[in-house]
Amino acid sequence: MTSADEQRDALLRFDQLEDGGLHEIEARLEGNDAESLIVLREGDAVRAWLNVCPHAGRRLDWAPGRFLKDKQGRLVCAVHGATFELQGGECIAGPCRGAALRTIPVVVEDGLVRVVRT
Ligand code: FES
Repeated sequence: MTSADEQRDALLRFDQLEDGGLHEIEARLEGNDAESLIVLREGDAVRAWLNVCPHAGRRLDWAPGRFLKDKQGRLVCAVHGATFELQGGECIAGPCRGAALRTIPVVVEDGLVRVVRT
């Protein structure tokens, strides 16, 4: 599959994202069911992961779009406290140490954050 075959679905406007903030949005990734994503903006960069904890398959937010962070700014799962670094989404402490969140490829184009579906 080439990049010409990629579909890029717009999620939200880049300027809606607070720099350094974690955001939750719904997106259709495969099939018709909407899935929850965690979206992080850091400066001009945006990263996204599926909002599913690798420990027990639960959402990481304690309420929709409300995420816990530790003092170092790492994401903490609200269910059992797994702690994830926010570069690769790897769990660095807690019950699923060494596992990782599922990365969802996103790009910023024309001021919009888009999921890259291949
Ligand atoms: S479901 Fe996230 S730490 Fe258990």
